[in-house]
Amino acid sequence: MEKLSALQQERLKFKPQLPLSLKTSFLMIKPKLGNPTESLSDPEKLSKIFAHTYGKPVVTFIKGKNAAFNKKPVKIGVVLSGGQAAGGHNVIAGLFDALKKANKKNKLIGFLGGPAGIVDGKVKEINASLMAEYRNTGGFDLIQSGRTKIETPEQFEKSKNTLLSKGIEALIVVGGDDSNTNAALLAEYLMKEKLSIKVIGVPKTIDGDLKNEMIETSFGFDTATKIYSELIGNICRDVNSARKYWHFVRLMGRSASHITLEAAFQTQPNITLIGEEVLAKQMTLSQVVDYIATVIVKRAENNKNFGVILVPEGLIEFIPEFKGLIKALNEAMAKHADTLAKLDSVVAKKDLIYTFLEHNLADLMKSLPAGIESQLILDRDPHGNVMVSQIETEKLLIEMVTKKLKEMKKAGTFIGKFAAINHFFGYEGRCGFPTNFDTNYCYALGYNAVVLALNGFTAYMSAVRNLNKKPSQWLAGGVPLTMMMNIERRHGADKAVIKKALVELNGRPFKAFAKMRKDLELNDRYLFPGPIQYSGPTEIVDATTKTLKLEKEK
Ligand code: FBP
Repeated sequence: MEKLSALQQERLKFKPQLPLSLKTSFLMIKPKLGNPTESLSDPEKLSKIFAHTYGKPVVTFIKGKNAAFNKKPVKIGVVLSGGQAAGGHNVIAGLFDALKKANKKNKLIGFLGGPAGIVDGKVKEINASLMAEYRNTGGFDLIQSGRTKIETPEQFEKSKNTLLSKGIEALIVVGGDDSNTNAALLAEYLMKEKLSIKVIGVPKTIDGDLKNEMIETSFGFDTATKIYSELIGNICRDVNSARKYWHFVRLMGRSASHITLEAAFQTQPNITLIGEEVLAKQMTLSQVVDYIATVIVKRAENNKNFGVILVPEGLIEFIPEFKGLIKALNEAMAKHADTLAKLDSVVAKKDLIYTFLEHNLADLMKSLPAGIESQLILDRDPHGNVMVSQIETEKLLIEMVTKKLKEMKKAGTFIGKFAAINHFFGYEGRCGFPTNFDTNYCYALGYNAVVLALNGFTAYMSAVRNLNKKPSQWLAGGVPLTMMMNIERRHGADKAVIKKALVELNGRPFKAFAKMRKDLELNDRYLFPGPIQYSGPTEIVDATTKTLKLEKEK
């Protein structure tokens, strides 16, 4: 039996590249400090919440003598938090190599199973032979991940005790906006407790929604979008060959539609829905269905009873009336939980629930396919809320579009055929072999996080910029976590959080898509990006996302 595939063996040999500024002795990497920074908004409130860590300067590493660098042996901890994203193991490899370069006696400790591993003190030391098995590989299996949040005073205290008992001098938190918000709170708490333990964040999420003026992209987005685009491109080619199906493809991305937008650039399907646009236009579900039906009808008139539609996972929550329905359902079902529990049939439950809802919401609910309606009533999370991300929006749309087209056929306004196939691409894209970009980017993010920690920085995010250039030209440094924060209303209370980046309708990527949209609807401009390549011409193997390219255009 083979232990490693041929590609696994080949990828283990890959040597990630570092930005030039980091490719030297640590004594020659000098932190250059900018001016004090402000949060995105609410500076007064945030400077109180983060009394010890607010407003630090942006750090850029440049070539220059740095005698203050910490050469004493240290132990650094790392935790992977939230959903998997390709490149996580290379963040750890970057941490490991930087630590060993600084001092052979330095140790890297992995917290197991996400932040719960910090609270419960579950650890594993990462040594050279263990690390060697995971270099340039996908997945988070070296130390696994988890979605526990360190929130309660008890959890903070337990985390502190773990860090102290394990002798950790810096903790690297690899996560998305929520996990990095948590990292900021932990850094603040440790400083308030007069401890010198540093906390550094690393931007991870396939969703691509942890980005801002200083963080150009989160790792994993590049690989995930390339994997989905390969699959969508293959479907486009199948569609163009068979010419008999409409494929509805839902793509992961809990909230923001960046993944869907990038996949649209890479494959040029006929219809792409962008949640943020649906919200801005205050579209109803039936308007979304009407739009899809209109394109199907027009294509049918041109003898094209086929096509590909991309649907972002977060769409449903961007439809204002649907959001209203979910909110009303959560409230009504909590209030009448006992009465509802006494009814045995789903139909009886539905009939009663209609009476609790405002007319327009009850009508919306009745218009949904029976399966989705039942899902809204029966599938609840541990807090009793509707599990929105589990709703199969692509199936919902297929059923509603089918109904609409049947009506149109009866009325004589649709003369074509409609047969639909549904897909959901999500988990497929999170743990693939990282692209060369993610391989290098993650390694640099990890390496740079150690340089930040060993220079005494805390409450920073490891930042590697200039990503449209070659890795040697990338800029390395740190961005204060409070600089990315604002105050948001969450569960009825004001919370300090890192702002999630949604698709900006005024941004270059969306504008570029809007320009080509009409043409894609009726013509077949499919692109076939094919599988990720690891060797070959640089335009192919080192290409980053179109989103990043457009955002960086001057
Ligand atoms: P993170 O933001 O934590 O990286 O997770 C992103 C994501 O992959 C979303 O796209 C998706 O909605 C969600 O995680 C799925 O979560 P789970 O892995 O818990 O099923």
